[in-house]
Amino acid sequence: MSYGRGWRVNHLVVLALCLSAIWIFMYYVAYGTGITSTDTREVRQQEQLQERLQKVTMMLKDNHRSLEKLKSDIMDYRGNLLNKLRSEISSQLKATEVPMIAKEPAAPQQMEKVVKEEVIEKVVETESPHVAEDETVIPIVITACNRPSVSRCLDRLFEVRDDKVDQFPVIVSQDCGHKDTETVLRGYGDKITYVKHDPEPVPGGVSSHMVGYYKISSHYKFALTQAFEHFPKADAIIILEDDIEVSPDFLSYFLAMYKLLNEDDSLWCASAWNDNGLTDIVDGTEKGAELLYRSDFFPGLGWLLKRSIWEKELSSKWPPGFWDDWMRDPAQRKERACIRPEVSRTSTFGKTGVSGGQFFDSHLKFIKLNDYSVDWSSKDLSYLTKDNYDRTFKERVYGLPLLTIGEIIENKMPDAREVRIEYATAQTFKDVAKKLHLMTDFKAGVPRTAYMGIVTTLYKGRRVFISPPENWKGYDEKWS
Ligand code: UD1
Ligand code: MN
Repeated sequence: MSYGRGWRVNHLVVLALCLSAIWIFMYYVAYGTGITSTDTREVRQQEQLQERLQKVTMMLKDNHRSLEKLKSDIMDYRGNLLNKLRSEISSQLKATEVPMIAKEPAAPQQMEKVVKEEVIEKVVETESPHVAEDETVIPIVITACNRPSVSRCLDRLFEVRDDKVDQFPVIVSQDCGHKDTETVLRGYGDKITYVKHDPEPVPGGVSSHMVGYYKISSHYKFALTQAFEHFPKADAIIILEDDIEVSPDFLSYFLAMYKLLNEDDSLWCASAWNDNGLTDIVDGTEKGAELLYRSDFFPGLGWLLKRSIWEKELSSKWPPGFWDDWMRDPAQRKERACIRPEVSRTSTFGKTGVSGGQFFDSHLKFIKLNDYSVDWSSKDLSYLTKDNYDRTFKERVYGLPLLTIGEIIENKMPDAREVRIEYATAQTFKDVAKKLHLMTDFKAGVPRTAYMGIVTTLYKGRRVFISPPENWKGYDEKWS
């Protein structure tokens, strides 16, 4: 069979068309399937990811729960151990200290009466002619709970108070209803005014290991109120805790601070405490004992509070928990400063307390307690008022040679006895602070002991100022 040329061309055209159609069909099928499979793969991947995410979230939640459980088990275990330890200590104390107690332990109802009588006696005593007209009376209030070793705090305080009994009357407020501690306190007879706080219920939802901070806060409000009420003529009080020991010049220091605070409204407290006051990084010389600073960080741990600040500002809005951090909030601090010493005038022996012993072992026990008897009444402290201090301090710091932390550690420029390191971020501050053995945390954006953002310390005997850039605009509350 023969075919004509036209037929062949037609055939070829048809064939070409068929091939194109097949190719187009295959292309679309292939392409279409490609899209579909990519889509499906992505969807599947997303589903798998979501599944994994859910699993991880569940695991995290479980871990969190186990962690919380573990924490509360540890706290319970710790509590049990503490109670055991306490009862051992109290039975030892009973054996040794009960004979010193002057009064017969009274029945509960009688006790209340005794408390009231003591209070009345004391109020009368404070306003008696024993106190010279012009003599400032500064009561000392001590919060106690379940430490019979509060005697260590009191005995040391009485030792440094010597004969200034009427000028610095002592009021101890006891929380927790701990019998052995009460027995120890009552043993002091009329050397102290004893008041008792009935613990208030802690707000619901507070986790077990935070409860202590709420108890402390509500007790503080009671204790401070009592102190100001029992000594109506006092314009300020000194606040101590039962596990605090004081330095020889503790009272002389606070008397001078009282006068200073009355001259400068930009000061709202004076504290005995240097948060970075570790033995190796403070100036432990006789001259060092006289060094004082302004600080934007509220230190607590032995501090002076003016009646006006308590009555007009703090008492009505006192927080249910974490009172010390609340004091550090800008709403309370209002850009005011505290005075703090180079070498602490208090130290704490409360290893086992609400915050636990770890911080005590790693930091608190290394805080140096001043042992010089500085006569603060003879010192001119006018350099500490804001008007005199700020410009001088800034000029001093920003005029110093600027070194890096590495250069400080290598002791570069050994002849420069004062140097400066700069930080511009929270992390840089933390890194530097860590290397210099300083506390690295911030409260409301303020590093411990900082004034105008500047923290000072000693490193291998030379003074170092860790400062923000000179054009610093203020603390950043987001720094934490
Ligand atoms: C830490 C602080 C402390 C602060 C407290 C609250 C240090 C070294 N101590 O307490 O200055 O007041 O956090 O933020 O940084 N207390 C009660 N009721 C209680 C438990 C304790 O009144 O239920 C009293 C104690 O007797 C003591 C004071 O609160 O006077 C502090 O208790 P403590 O157990 O010593 O806790 P810290 O961890 O030192
Ligand atoms: Mn304590």
